[in-house]
Amino acid sequence: MSMPGSSRCILFWPVPQRARPNRRGADKDMSESNHLSVMVEQVVRLLRPEGCELIVDCTAGLGGHAEAILSAAGRQGRLIGIDVDESLLKRAKKRLEVFGERVRLFRANFSQLVEVLDQSAEGKVDLVLADLGVASAQLDDPARGLSFMADGPLDMRLDLRLTRTAADIVNTMDRTQLADLIYAYGEERFSRRIAGAIVAARRTRRIARSLELAEIVSKALPPAVRAKRRGVHPATRTFQALRISVNEELTNLEILLNSLPRVLKPNGRAAVISFHSLEDRRVKHAFADLVRSGQGRLLNPKPITPDAEEIKLNPRSRSAKLRGIEMLISGSSDGAKDHDQRNTDRAVGGTGVHRDVRPGADGADRN
Ligand SMILES: C[S@@+](CC[C@H](N)C(=O)[O-])C[C@H]1O[C@@H](n2cnc3c(N)ncnc32)[C@H](O)[C@@H]1O
Repeated sequence: MSMPGSSRCILFWPVPQRARPNRRGADKDMSESNHLSVMVEQVVRLLRPEGCELIVDCTAGLGGHAEAILSAAGRQGRLIGIDVDESLLKRAKKRLEVFGERVRLFRANFSQLVEVLDQSAEGKVDLVLADLGVASAQLDDPARGLSFMADGPLDMRLDLRLTRTAADIVNTMDRTQLADLIYAYGEERFSRRIAGAIVAARRTRRIARSLELAEIVSKALPPAVRAKRRGVHPATRTFQALRISVNEELTNLEILLNSLPRVLKPNGRAAVISFHSLEDRRVKHAFADLVRSGQGRLLNPKPITPDAEEIKLNPRSRSAKLRGIEMLISGSSDGAKDHDQRNTDRAVGGTGVHRDVRPGADGADRN
């Protein structure tokens, strides 16, 4: 099958050493960002890619999981990689280049999975993986404003086409809405105090930098609470809430979870790695609904978590939870029709990365 955007002669087999997964998915080419894919072995064991033909990695990131899964799938395996972050997709493309035409990358939101599959003229798929959240490369890039540890513009968009930044939220939302947002998406008990401090601070000037916000939030917490949360930065929950809101993370996750029965073949499997309880709860409930309706079977009744060795090597993995489901029957393949029809356009010459042209979606973040 021909792959748009990729016309070079492709090496199919044998898979060179570079394409074999190393134990922890360490990305040698990405040493500057210290990127380690989470629970690579567990994901491969859970999804059992051997012999699979079509795999979707909904969060391609730097390509670590994609590389491991495709290597395990064998030479008939093809992978569609999706990510909203074009800069990471370019790096994934380099890493996955060795698989040639077996890999197609799309710059798209995974909430558009149905449309991406329509666009790529693919039918149902064998495997779907979503490794939620952000990559270390994004977190460590001060220009993204995702971290309370490094100063940068208070942006937090993973998809730079989105129009609303974290700075827009903290500088314009009214106090009650801001408190509700920090409570709902950050599960922060002190949301009202924090919202009050933000509103007071912005009276004198616009809050524009990540460290500025981190300091406002820290000072808003009672000293006893700050002391009790030792080891966890006081702004952690507020930053999580803003990131979730800016990127509409929970809405997108729900759309993805709802699309699984439509995109997976019977016996097709999906795995999701979540990093906090708001995500994990949604995954758990969506999978339970599929089991209750007789459409699916849990691959692991209890979530799989990283072992002590991995957590030591990659402390950011400590909150990860992996859940998997296998479809017993398949839903209607006519998914795109009852789905919000968002545009995806064709390949962009040269990069081999396909783009969608969805305008920055704004609005409903609330559950
Ligand atoms: C934890 S990283 C994935 C790392 C990847 N599994 C690897 O091994 O390199 C999460 C990735 O998901 C992407 N992402 C987050 N939300 C997304 C969404 N709604 N649609 C598509 N990509 C998304 C982020 O840009 C980031 O690259």
